Amino acid sequence: MTISKSNMKILLKSQQGELDVVMMYQALAKVVKDENDAATFRKLASEEGHHASVFHKLTQENIKPKKTLAFFITILYKLIGKKYKLIGKKRLYTKIIKGEYQACENYAPVAEKFPEIESVKEDEKRHGDIVASLL
Ligand SMILES: [Fe+2]
Repeated sequence: MTISKSNMKILLKSQQGELDVVMMYQALAKVVKDENDAATFRKLASEEGHHASVFHKLTQENIKPKKTLAFFITILYKLIGKKYKLIGKKRLYTKIIKGEYQACENYAPVAEKFPEIESVKEDEKRHGDIVASLL
């Protein structure tokens, strides 16, 4: 299948985003105190890894995950309960939930062109619901 340049750009950006959230969920799983939250984040990390592989199949490009998002999200988490109290668990998780629902929206037009992305899109919505259930 030939993929147009503009679609390839979207697919590569999506692949990068998936890889970055794998790192984010893995990092969160290591720092959160609640064991149920940690187990949930490990599961989400593995599902995001599957998403990255769906995009990889289309792009055939190897991309390295960026740790920036994982870094900042764990820094934010570590500030919870500390004297600075910049952000609470609720606010942090709410950002993650918004990110998942946003990903679901962003994937809608791509899923129309590439049917294999439809289930990825549905997963992001489900991820948003799962993280919301942790609050
Ligand atoms: Fe994903």
